Amino acid sequence: MANTSTHINVHNLDMAYGSFVVQRDLNFEIKRGEVFIIMGDSGCGKSTLLRHMIGLNTPARGEILYDGENFWEALPRAREAMMRRFGVLYQSGALWSSMTLAENVALPIEAYTDLSPDEIREVVSLKLALVGLAGFEEFYPSEISGGMQKRAGLARAMALDPEILFFDEPSAGLDPISSRRLDDLILELRDSLGSTVVVVTHELASIFAIGDNSIFLDAEVRTMVASGNPKQLLADPPTPKIREFLSRGEL
Ligand SMILES: Nc1ncnc2c1ncn2[C@@H]1O[C@H](COP(=O)(O)OP(=O)(O)OP(=O)(O)O)[C@@H](O)[C@H]1O
Ligand SMILES: [Mg+2]
Repeated sequence: MANTSTHINVHNLDMAYGSFVVQRDLNFEIKRGEVFIIMGDSGCGKSTLLRHMIGLNTPARGEILYDGENFWEALPRAREAMMRRFGVLYQSGALWSSMTLAENVALPIEAYTDLSPDEIREVVSLKLALVGLAGFEEFYPSEISGGMQKRAGLARAMALDPEILFFDEPSAGLDPISSRRLDDLILELRDSLGSTVVVVTHELASIFAIGDNSIFLDAEVRTMVASGNPKQLLADPPTPKIREFLSRGEL
């Protein structure tokens, strides 16, 4: 990648729910335009880390910096401005079932821009076309497949042309082919929009197909125990646990 400046910096981050410490001492940086994978076993704190990065959970300690700007120490207004640059696809997918795809994608645009209804319709159609859902504007989520729902969620996450896309388990519940299509789409969008992409996933195929860099969170020792390019981690695993995690299915 041509541009390798640091986009996101996580420094000495501790995360807790009350007195329950989920992870501590997280230190990593994410380069602009890279696909960064957060991996680890169920319950280790992947979604929790994402929630800290997008502004839903406050750190117990430590900093998260975007382009060098301290996210959690910024004034509410500045933090909101930073959050506008995020697009998020939650673990649960979370399209509104009572709204059409067009209405779902229009929601953030209506909330955060002054575009006219005609202009919004145009942007919405463009976003749906980008994820291969041209012509499905008036469909309801229940009328399309799981893979199409994920893509519609992706269209909504991209509605405001985000600089950073956050995905929590985007391929959960998808068959391998739909999952691969979604991976391809994530790469295409990264390439065309130049976005930085942060993905929580434990799907090996996705990890190796799209990950430029990664961290591994360990639920037992409650900190990150590895970081680096997933293929390189597999080639030279720092611990038996990483080897086991990255070679599942081959055994
Ligand atoms: N709102 C909450 N209040 C208290 N504890 C929570 C809360 N959310 C999550 N936890 C706990 O924090 C830990 C990490 O949860 P988290 O959802 O971040 O894990 P995860 O790695 O995303 O798991 P999965 O792969 O199953 O999605 C778990 O022990 C979980 O029970
Ligand atoms: Mg999770």
